[in-house]
Amino acid sequence: MMNEFLGKQNFNISNQTVSESCPSNIALIKYWGKYDNQIPANPSISYTLNHCKTNTSMEFLADEKFSVQTFLGGKEELKFAEKIEKYFKNIEGYLPWILKGKYIIKTENTFPHSSGIASSASGFGAIAKCLMDLDAQFSGKSDEDFKLKKASFLARLGSGSACRSLYNGLVVWGKTAEVAESSDLFAVQYPNEEIHSIFKNFNDWVLLIHEGEKSVSSTVGHGLMNTNPYAEKRFQEAHENFKTLKEILKNGDLQNFIQLVEHEALTLHAMMMMSEPAFILMKTGTLQVINKIWEFRKETNLPLFFTLDAGANVHLLFPENSDSEKIKEFIVKELLQFTQNNGVVKDMMNF
Ligand code: PMV
Repeated sequence: MMNEFLGKQNFNISNQTVSESCPSNIALIKYWGKYDNQIPANPSISYTLNHCKTNTSMEFLADEKFSVQTFLGGKEELKFAEKIEKYFKNIEGYLPWILKGKYIIKTENTFPHSSGIASSASGFGAIAKCLMDLDAQFSGKSDEDFKLKKASFLARLGSGSACRSLYNGLVVWGKTAEVAESSDLFAVQYPNEEIHSIFKNFNDWVLLIHEGEKSVSSTVGHGLMNTNPYAEKRFQEAHENFKTLKEILKNGDLQNFIQLVEHEALTLHAMMMMSEPAFILMKTGTLQVINKIWEFRKETNLPLFFTLDAGANVHLLFPENSDSEKIKEFIVKELLQFTQNNGVVKDMMNF
């Protein structure tokens, strides 16, 4: 166990209700593959989003038998409650009071529930923040920086990529020589002064190609990297991509940024196809959109590009500037037709 984050044994619990909000994030260099205790196989970096968020309230009833009740958008969710119970038991060493009461947790996402946009990052981020609010009440306040760092550490133990949602801007998780203070245990903010202004005002419009459950969960997907013969090469490449990205971010080199980000997205999905058993999360619409983007770029030279998470939806990335109107028009006219229900979530990076 990590000493820095171990909980204090002298605490004083009482009935409390806390609420927190946490955004989602989209990775540019992807985390795919992990070791025991949620240690990532390679470093990753993501943009934190602005509008896609989870709002959570947590009521703690002191001295009642430990149990967890969860509501998502007002509807009771038994499966989620089971997952949270397991998670709380797992982190008791870091929050020694955690099993000494009953929880009523109410969460709402600002994005459609069935959209296929991952809610685990924002969801676990918000829960970890609520837990740290309770911890401040029960064990005494710690400084804000440490509170955030420990929230990131706890969120990671719920869902790896969630640890990046605790910070705004560009956020790094996983030890890399390229980013001082980076760690496998929690996320850190990428230094703002090393990011060219072009990367600070960026759109992420999410095309909802396939709404609903994914056929293979990311837990299973990570697991299949253990036997993927290309895994080591992939982990090594992620490290090298960090080096390249660092230069790109400093110089404002949009062309190479586009190349690197699309390559990362396609590598993630290539790893899925090379798994045993193989699986494919992209849909026909995903490929149609990708081809349309490439044609558009060739014809116009405008900086519209994509990334993908572990699903069929396409994240459309483009800087907000004098060209973005033309890009937005193209998306609405040419790309919306490939979504299931004209679904698009218009988000921006949060700096
Ligand atoms: O945090 P998890 O276990 O849901 O894994 C997320 C993995 C990707 O979204 C595909 C990549 C990433 O780095 O966010």
